[in-house]
Amino acid sequence: MATTHSLAGDVKDIALAERGKRKIEWANQQMPVLQLIRKRFIKEQPLRGTRLSACLHVTSETANLAITLRDGGAEVVLCASNPLSTQDEVAACLVKDYSIPTFAIKGEDHNTYYAHLDAALEHKPQITMDDGADLVTTLVTKRFHLVPGVIGGTEETTTGVIRLRAMAKDGTLKYPIISVNDALTKHLFDNRYGTGQSTIDGILRATNLLLAGTKMVVAGYGWCGRGIAMRAKGLGADVIVTEISPVRALEAVMDGFRVMPMAEAAKIGDIFVTVTGNKSVLAQEHFERMKDGAVLCNSGHFNVEIDIPALEKLSSGKKPARPFVDEYAMKDGRRLYLLGEGRLINLAAAEGHPAAVMDMSFANQALSAEYLLQHAAELGRQVYPVPEAIDRQIARLKLESMGIQADRLTPEQEHYLASWSEGT
Ligand SMILES: NC(=O)c1ccc[n+]([C@@H]2O[C@H](COP(=O)([O-])OP(=O)(O)OC[C@H]3O[C@@H](n4cnc5c(N)ncnc54)[C@H](O)[C@@H]3O)[C@@H](O)[C@H]2O)c1
Repeated sequence: MATTHSLAGDVKDIALAERGKRKIEWANQQMPVLQLIRKRFIKEQPLRGTRLSACLHVTSETANLAITLRDGGAEVVLCASNPLSTQDEVAACLVKDYSIPTFAIKGEDHNTYYAHLDAALEHKPQITMDDGADLVTTLVTKRFHLVPGVIGGTEETTTGVIRLRAMAKDGTLKYPIISVNDALTKHLFDNRYGTGQSTIDGILRATNLLLAGTKMVVAGYGWCGRGIAMRAKGLGADVIVTEISPVRALEAVMDGFRVMPMAEAAKIGDIFVTVTGNKSVLAQEHFERMKDGAVLCNSGHFNVEIDIPALEKLSSGKKPARPFVDEYAMKDGRRLYLLGEGRLINLAAAEGHPAAVMDMSFANQALSAEYLLQHAAELGRQVYPVPEAIDRQIARLKLESMGIQADRLTPEQEHYLASWSEGT
């Protein structure tokens, strides 16, 4: 580990801090809702003395969340939620300029990734903040003695929420979790517009391919998939969607996309993007049918959506073609290109979601942490939604920051909507 001895944390190079600071400040300008929360937190100190361990993508937006939590009185420790998503300059700046212990190095190996999780848990958190549920699962499987000290936690992403709901169902979940992902001001915007734009950004930065006229296969038409398909279409790609849900498949058809099984799409696609939260969505039978030169990437949480071991078995070797692009030589002579080692391409090859969208996601995180401190005693070992009042407040503040006003119900309309006898 590249431990920085004088400062708490493990970052690539503390000398990168100055560059990180500029990046964090740039993101902050696009995060007006979080700024308002931070101002109030500084005054009211709602998180005073709370030990909070956060396992999130270490980006400039996350830095602004960590600073907001710290300014609200929390003792924050941060580690990476993905080995490839860390912005090393941001990690350095958090340690050097904000005294927030940060354990994250872009490209860290498996053991370092888990050593960093352990380091965050050494903090003995009262609140956990997860993106993918790695803190919670590590706590209940390896650090069980720390569980009684935890009041509650929050979860950022779809895959984490699915894991945590499974834990709640079989009794493994030991404290309440607020599902930030389920807030409307999170998934309607972050998953759709954030993942939509930044996934395309990651593909383009990695490959510099022209999307116009390209056959792009999007696997999964959920919140993220809709965003990716919409933005790819806008750039002129011929978008094909694959799905396992008949409702979502139908929605994709009516949104104007071709829908077909992956076994068919595999034969014609130029670029494949998986974003399902599932595993082996691209598997051996698909690699065998793909065209020479096909590009494969993933924007779902874990790097299991593309069956990389199967790809390796079919190939005689791999070599780097460009940064974040590996060329796999198939034994039959074709070449397939895997981007970002099959990890979240928007974070591996680009910068993740734009700050303006993370403003709402992280406003939900900050207000959910405050809510947990006030209400944890009333909550069970379940996954709870973000309270509607918080969701609405964030939407209102975001609109205000954009200088946009929406109409309000008149008293007459309020009465009409609340009454069953009206309209007869
Ligand atoms: N890249 C990012 O920055 C980012 C941001 C948010 C969420 N995520 C992750 O992206 C993934 C998807 O999130 P979401 O919010 O869109 O979830 P979602 O549940 O809204 O959508 C997932 C879709 O995939 C479909 N699906 C499942 N298995 C499939 C298969 N084998 N083939 C085709 N379709 C299949 C489901 O039917 C569903 O419609 C999750 O892992 C989530 O954690 C990534």
